[in-house]
Order: sequence, then structure tokens, then C-alpha cells
Amino acid sequence: MRIAVAGGTGTVGRYVVETGRAAGHDMVVVSRASGIDLGARQSEIALSTALRGVDVIIDTTDPHTLARSRATSFFEEVGGRLQRVGAEQGVGRLVVLSIVGIDRVPRFGYYEAKQRHEAVSLAGALATTVVRATQFHEFPAQILRATRHGPLAFMLAMRIQPIAARTAGRYLLQIATNGTPDGSTLQISGPEPASLVTLARHYLRQRDRKSLVVPLPLPGAPGRALRHGAVLPTDEVPRLGPTFAEWLQGPDAIAVDP
Ligand SMILES: NC(=O)c1ccc[n+]([C@@H]2O[C@H](COP(=O)([O-])OP(=O)(O)OC[C@H]3O[C@@H](n4cnc5c(N)ncnc54)[C@H](OP(=O)(O)O)[C@@H]3O)[C@@H](O)[C@H]2O)c1
Repeated sequence: MRIAVAGGTGTVGRYVVETGRAAGHDMVVVSRASGIDLGARQSEIALSTALRGVDVIIDTTDPHTLARSRATSFFEEVGGRLQRVGAEQGVGRLVVLSIVGIDRVPRFGYYEAKQRHEAVSLAGALATTVVRATQFHEFPAQILRATRHGPLAFMLAMRIQPIAARTAGRYLLQIATNGTPDGSTLQISGPEPASLVTLARHYLRQRDRKSLVVPLPLPGAPGRALRHGAVLPTDEVPRLGPTFAEWLQGPDAIAVDP
């Protein structure tokens, strides 16, 4: 199959591309690094060319901001553009990556933006499947990269049940190639719940970094929801390995060194 991965250079997108190539698919990377800015109308000609002959698009883009309005505009633009240009080019389906529990955390701007991402994607002409995943094993390292300043690092106080980005990428590819019913929302999770602060400390210890991790409790209702496990998976969500401890020993943990 010919498969386009929007965000194919990112934390999870690169594993979708790698797994797809290993399985013999023709993988097309769509990102600014490959010359296509999905937030810009001027990129539509390049996007049309990239999507020619594509059977399915997998959307793993991210705007690199938690700000409600910027994240919302980004996901509306990207979701709408992939749908419209994809339909013009005769693409068969769209698979969109989202996050478990985004509708259980009130007034959290980024999660509201992700809900718009899902809604815009599901409203388009292409048959769409949403895959909600829990946070990645890479998530503590992603936050450390943004918040670590010498001896101090700040980490949101929240409970997560992380999954390896490689596992999530493999699952996305499987859904994209197997043909799931239109309009469905699927969920996947990692094996074990933990505190994000604890995972960040384990990560730094394993990498032999000396920063002190300071918990950052978000105020109000969103903070309470995150601390009390609103983004943990419910019982019926499949748990997929490896565990965080197993992942920490492998090469993928080194690849995200902040
Ligand atoms: N991180 C997690 O723990 C987690 C867990 C569950 C779900 N998710 C969801 O998974 C998605 C991907 O997350 P991630 O952590 O893999 O993100 P990431 O590592 O930040 O990667 C984001 C990707 O989006 C691309 N991108 C950003 N702006 C773009 C633009 N204007 N045009 C085209 N491409 C653009 C980036 O490539 P360029 O910079 O080259 O443009 C990159 O390939 C997000 O939607 C997120 O909500 C994340």
C-alpha cells in the first residue's frame, strides 16, 4: 500500500514510517522537514503531489504548544486540509492519533484542541478512524526537554499509563492497513499506571542526569482531574507492552535523550 504519514518525522510518526517500510509499504512522509507545512495554504500543491496514489493517511502531527487557541487553529487547519486535499486526490481513508481521556479533563486547552482535531477529522469526506493512545514512554523525556534548566526540571503532577511510541506506531499501521469500520474510535494503553514525576526521575537516573524534578500541580479542575487519573485507561482498553522499565533498558529510550 501507499501510506502517507503526516508528522512522519515525529516521536510516534517515525515508528509508523519505519514499521511500514519494513513491511514493504510505500511510505510518504508529510512534515515541514519534508517540505510540506500543513498549516500553510501555500503548501497545498506540494501536499496534492505527495498524496497522489495514497491509499491511507495517518495523522500524527503536533503543534508543539499547549496554548488552547494556537493548538486549536493548528488541528483545525491540519485536519481540514488533510481531509479536503486527501479527498481531491482520491485517498481511501484517514487514521488520526488522539489521546485517551481528553474528554474527562475539563478546561484543559490542549485536550480541547485535540477534541476539535477528532471532530474536524471525523466530519470530513474521507472515512476516518480515531485511535486514542495513552501518553508515550517518551512523554517524560519530551517534557524534560522543554522544562529542564540545569539542576531543575518541572513536571506536571499527573497519573499516566504510558505506552511505547513504537508500539503505538505499529498499532496505527495495523489499523491503517486492516480497514476498520468508518467513524470508529479505538483506544490503546501501556501496561502499568504511574506518576509522571516518578517516571521522569527514573528516566534521569537511568541516563545518569542529576536534575531535581519538581512536581507542578496544575490549579483547579483540570489539575485535579490529571492528578486523580482522568487520562488512565478504563478496564476494556487493551494494554500493550513493553513496560516503562523494559523500554528504559532499550535503544528507543536513548533515541529521545533530552
Ligand atoms: N506524546 C505523547 O505522549 C502522545 C500520546 C498520545 C497521543 N499523542 C498525540 O500524537 C500526536 C503526535 O505526538 P508526538 O509526540 O509524536 O509529536 P512530535 O514528536 O512533536 O511530532 C510532531 C510531528 O508533527 C510535525 N509537524 C508539526 N507542525 C507541522 C506543520 N505545520 N506541518 C507539517 N507537519 C508538522 C512535525 O514535523 P516537522 O517539525 O518536520 O514539521 C513532527 O513530525 C499528537 O497529536 C499528540 O496529541 C501524543
